[in-house]
Amino acid sequence: MKSYAPAAALFVLLISIQLGCVPSTSKKLSSYDPQVKELLSQMTLEEKIGQMTQPEQGPVLGNPGDMQKYFIGSVLSGGDSDPAEGNSLQAWTDLYDRAQSEAMSTRLAIPILYGIDAVHGHSNVLGAVMFPHNIALGCTRDPVLVEKIGRITAEEVRATGIQWTFAPCVTVPQDIRWGRTYEGFSEDQELVRILGEAAVRGMQGTDLSNPLSIVACAKHYIGDGGTSANIAPRPGMPSGGKVRLWLDQGDTKLDEAELRRIHLPGYISAVRAGVGTIMPSYNTWNGVRCSASKRLLTEILKEELGFEGFLISDYNAINQINPKDYKGSIEISINAGMDMAMVPTGYRDFFNNLKALVEEGRVPMSRIDDAVTRILRVKFAMGLMDKNRSQLADRKLHQSFGSPEHRALAREAVRKSTVLLRNDNRILPISKKAARIHLAGKSADDIGNQCGGWTIKWQGQSGNVTPGGTTILQAIKAAVSRETQVTFSLDGSGAEGASVGIVVVGERPYAEGIGDRSDLTLGQEDVTAIANVKKAGIPVVVLLISGRPMIVTDILPQADAFLAAFLPGTEGQGIADVLFGDYRPTGKLSFSWPKSMDQLPLNINIPKDKYDPLFAYGYGLSY
Ligand code: BGC
Ligand code: BGC
Repeated sequence: MKSYAPAAALFVLLISIQLGCVPSTSKKLSSYDPQVKELLSQMTLEEKIGQMTQPEQGPVLGNPGDMQKYFIGSVLSGGDSDPAEGNSLQAWTDLYDRAQSEAMSTRLAIPILYGIDAVHGHSNVLGAVMFPHNIALGCTRDPVLVEKIGRITAEEVRATGIQWTFAPCVTVPQDIRWGRTYEGFSEDQELVRILGEAAVRGMQGTDLSNPLSIVACAKHYIGDGGTSANIAPRPGMPSGGKVRLWLDQGDTKLDEAELRRIHLPGYISAVRAGVGTIMPSYNTWNGVRCSASKRLLTEILKEELGFEGFLISDYNAINQINPKDYKGSIEISINAGMDMAMVPTGYRDFFNNLKALVEEGRVPMSRIDDAVTRILRVKFAMGLMDKNRSQLADRKLHQSFGSPEHRALAREAVRKSTVLLRNDNRILPISKKAARIHLAGKSADDIGNQCGGWTIKWQGQSGNVTPGGTTILQAIKAAVSRETQVTFSLDGSGAEGASVGIVVVGERPYAEGIGDRSDLTLGQEDVTAIANVKKAGIPVVVLLISGRPMIVTDILPQADAFLAAFLPGTEGQGIADVLFGDYRPTGKLSFSWPKSMDQLPLNINIPKDKYDPLFAYGYGLSY
């Protein structure tokens, strides 16, 4: 149970050799430079700075005339940035069309790139297919599947007109107490390298100008998953002065060789796959903000790796460089190599300050030209500058939005990512003809918990967050025979007499630093639900829905079978496939599973003699 699975490692190695160097974009971004140069020569300083400015849709569209006055080159919807008209496919598409039409009414009519966090499907939009989060996809070890998911995600994003996602996240989380652990494919940089590249290939396709492609964004560069835990007030966050454990946006204390070894591979492969954009991270590296580091942004990424696309700052990240001097922070970041600033509400401030910095000679014109060249390269590559092509949304794509075909792919991802960790007395697969199955636990009938954070809301939400999917309870009811009775109680009561009990427990949704935790043991209601089903004297299957491994050492003896599905998304049927024998489990852990909190951080990069997990990286049973 403890041994590192050498077979799995070999498998990954073989795949990586096989996928060696398949660049996704047929053309280099710099091959558009002749057209870019021509356009650049017609642009005023204001028009150039506008290309570098990315406000949130709400603030900028809420101020009529600002899109034109500031020559805005890009707009985003953050985690809580629904259309004013409400959240529907129609309203999102109308919102995109409106922002695009405004951009096209400027002197040079340069279309905007509209960016959004489509991080597990088009995850802000009601009715979209929500794929499993990356931690679960890591358990599939299947780059072909991840590429297909990228393709379908791109298609659903394009259905709303939007052409840019802030994904894939190629973070390599080293400490599962971090609230962003689930955004990473794995603690293993090698798996991240392979799946990150596959995701870029899927989203961008073989040609960025394909109207079904979107431009990808590898994030968060670099070392976001390598920060060390702090117990202190968290500066600059809503939780303000509260003393607590936090890792998010912290400091990554590593020498450059280790930083490169663990945290760079995902960017090397993304750049090789032709990724159009990269997002520098909030965190610091040995005390220096990534967004302020010329070494990281210009020397390593652009000069050494040859990245030809553009860098987009994280949400208000430039402000953090020196909270007392915004103008100075802009100067540092742009001179370090930042090309576009994500400035949700403060876009006027950014615009005016950057303009002044250029006029004062503090930011050289050559740097502005380089930034705008990089942004325009991506726009040309995507066919945005093609006058014969409409830049408005293609509403024909609405037909396949959230379609059964798209859901079938998500279901496949769910069954391939569910990891079987214990199966005593061959409890699984459960017979579809069992007389009665009792379900329990807070996540048995909760699509919001299945989907986790970054789903409709920034923080996600428990409950019925989005239409069209299948909860685990619904999936089980649909899978069993007509004669089988399926009963359910939240707390596990009433399980007596059932053939088997299935208890679905774990975490409620969270995102970013809000999910940093010093305690990953199961909550009392989960413990009670398991105990109640156990008391009924029937076989107990425990299914964990969570953004990371949790501490289950104490409850494991009560479970005859134990499975981890992580955050599977909307298609609960994939779990039923594994429970009832329609799919023999193949999922392998993408993270090491600790016995206790005091072992953390625990991962395959720590010294071998300290590595003593409950379930090792790569572990996973079948039947
Ligand atoms: C997150 C990014 C995200 C951005 C836009 C930031 O807070 O760190 O991952 O892309 O917001 O929503
Ligand atoms: C936004 C997110 C963003 C976060 C940054 C939220 O209000 O909706 O997109 O990532 O703030 O802290």
